[in-house]
Amino acid sequence: MWDRLKSLHDGQQNRDILSLFDDQTRAEKYSVLSDGLLFDYSKTLIDADGHAALIDLAEARGLVSRRDAMFCGDAINETEGRAVLHTALRNQSGGAVKVRGVDVMPGIRETLARMRCFAEEVRSGAFAGAGGPITDVVNIGIGGSHLGPEMTARALGPYHDGPRCHFVSNVDGADISGALTDLDPGRTLVIIASKTFTTIETMTNARTALDWMARGVDTPGDQFVALSSALDRTAEFGIPPERVFGFGDWVGGRYSIWGPIGLSLMLAIGAERFEDFLSGGEMMDRHFKTAPLADNMPVQLALVGLWHHQVCGYPTRAVLPYDQRLGRLPAYLQQLEMESNGKSVAMDGAALTGPSGPVVWGEPGTNGQHAFYQLIHQGTQIVPCEFMVAAEGHEPELTHHHRLLVANCLAQSEALMRGRSLKDARALMAAAGFEGDDLERQARHRVFAGNRPSTTLVYDRLTPKRLGQIIALYEHRVFVEGVILGINSFDQWGVELGKELAKALQPVLEGQASAKGKDGSTRQLLSFVQSNTDQ
Ligand code: F6P
Repeated sequence: MWDRLKSLHDGQQNRDILSLFDDQTRAEKYSVLSDGLLFDYSKTLIDADGHAALIDLAEARGLVSRRDAMFCGDAINETEGRAVLHTALRNQSGGAVKVRGVDVMPGIRETLARMRCFAEEVRSGAFAGAGGPITDVVNIGIGGSHLGPEMTARALGPYHDGPRCHFVSNVDGADISGALTDLDPGRTLVIIASKTFTTIETMTNARTALDWMARGVDTPGDQFVALSSALDRTAEFGIPPERVFGFGDWVGGRYSIWGPIGLSLMLAIGAERFEDFLSGGEMMDRHFKTAPLADNMPVQLALVGLWHHQVCGYPTRAVLPYDQRLGRLPAYLQQLEMESNGKSVAMDGAALTGPSGPVVWGEPGTNGQHAFYQLIHQGTQIVPCEFMVAAEGHEPELTHHHRLLVANCLAQSEALMRGRSLKDARALMAAAGFEGDDLERQARHRVFAGNRPSTTLVYDRLTPKRLGQIIALYEHRVFVEGVILGINSFDQWGVELGKELAKALQPVLEGQASAKGKDGSTRQLLSFVQSNTDQ
């Protein structure tokens, strides 16, 4: 299958993406339109043969049965023996979803109802701090317990009508001290978001926040909430069960924004809009489950990704939201995609024979245009770009800004595809008054190879529902890529070794253990740090 795809790619060496548009129906054919989203992948070199071969690959890898197994609650996270059911958290129209024969939906509904009730109490002032109604919420978490809440809260800024939300993740004291500086402990709610409730960064920040609050109020624990699946540990920390919102081990950290981990978002935008966000996710689930593979948005997004990384060999992909409020989406997708599919062993323990998932990176447009787009247009590596933009913004008085934003987004994908030939560059230089060798030299710097692939996702407006659809789209994309590569997208053993070594180095830094046995570089670095530390 891969050989067939590679030989199709090899056969395209002299083909231009632009020439594929001789087929007047190409744009429509190589796009998927679903529930207010348009995903256009026509500015790629995928043609009818490539498309058919990619679909064959998906079918041969058992995508459909694997997808159904996920939605049904089978333990598809085989290395951890767990089901993968973040989709159940947004299953609002709600049939039963069983894990080992037990329906998880009643528990999900009950927790959602408790979250809703708590959010309403906080937002109305019925739940208050020692100094009065809650004005600020500090979410302490990291990875999936941080990126989802932070990214979505920023994305849905126009819908905020609750307390201000702040997000602390890094164990670097600069993060928490910066966040707490101007807050009133008497009117702050601290959320400790940690699935395991053991993560060192989160627990360190949680204790620092507790100390900070204890300096301002008599019973600081009253203003703490926990979001976790480790109820024994939340109790040990001193948070009573009524302020703990739990979830099953079948929700992976980077897939957890749909449940209790989304509490800060719910506090910011209210329960109703949070439920709109869930219904967007559910809408995408429905589409993913029912649309034929060829018209299935997450499947097509995944196949384009596989085509560019595994078949064409492009090592990275850029996510470029032309939406300032999606500024943290690239970071969110880095965890979602790279923690899920950055692996070298297949589900069955065998080494992968080809590349795993690509490096994912990006920045919102238009900012990126004035930073790294130079390389995307003229560098020697090809970077497939994933653009996204809303038809309209949230600033009715600034529609001219939005038109400029959209124009820039569309212009970039067009420029990447068209490029500029040497002939055209020479004509430009001649018109600017250059001649002879000088003209030639100047012209060469102004050539754009073009033929660089991109996709564009367009949506009407970044509402809670659309955001839910977009996140679920990417989640399923990661799943499809994982299934086709034979990877378990739901474990993350690769993060463990660094954690273990950091634990062992801590006593060395505290002067309670020696660096004996460490390599020369690590010893040198430790010694420099120790000789430059006053505290
Ligand atoms: O270290 C990686 C990781 O386990 C992520 O998968 C997870 O999102 C993050 O740490 C935080 O974990 P927890 O929610 O258990 O604190």
